[in-house]
Amino acid sequence: MKFGLIGIGAIGSVRASALRRTKGCELVVVHDLDAVRARALAPQAEFHATVASLFASTECEAVIISTPPQFHEYAAMPATRVSRNSKRPGCTTAELWEAEP
Ligand SMILES: NC(=O)c1ccc[n+]([C@@H]2O[C@H](COP(=O)([O-])OP(=O)(O)OC[C@H]3O[C@@H](n4cnc5c(N)ncnc54)[C@H](O)[C@@H]3O)[C@@H](O)[C@H]2O)c1
Repeated sequence: MKFGLIGIGAIGSVRASALRRTKGCELVVVHDLDAVRARALAPQAEFHATVASLFASTECEAVIISTPPQFHEYAAMPATRVSRNSKRPGCTTAELWEAEP
């Protein structure tokens, strides 16, 4: 399966490493506010400057969000714009569900 990863800090790096070591898994696209570090930690993956760009990518089949909790919604909402099996885990109210990502 081809993965995307949003947030490559402490735990994101561990997850990227796990994907590298797992047969059948491949990290193909990444996004982080720190582009230099993201590119250094996942040189094999295509870097995306925005989460919208990453989710619009046809390269990945699943996305792992590894940003701090307050940015999970920000990271997940663009997924609802694309035709994927996406959930809105950050939506705790109807207003958030209806809001434009
Ligand atoms: N460190 C752990 O052992 C561990 C274990 C399990 C879960 N977690 C959870 O993982 C999350 C991240 O923790 P961490 O220790 O990796 O933090 P970290 O600060 O080391 O890394 C966070 C990364 O997210 C990036 N980031 C922050 N805001 C962003 C945004 N808006 N868009 C894109 N990228 C953004 C940062 O640039 C950084 O690279 C937290 O929710 C934490 O609770 C951490």
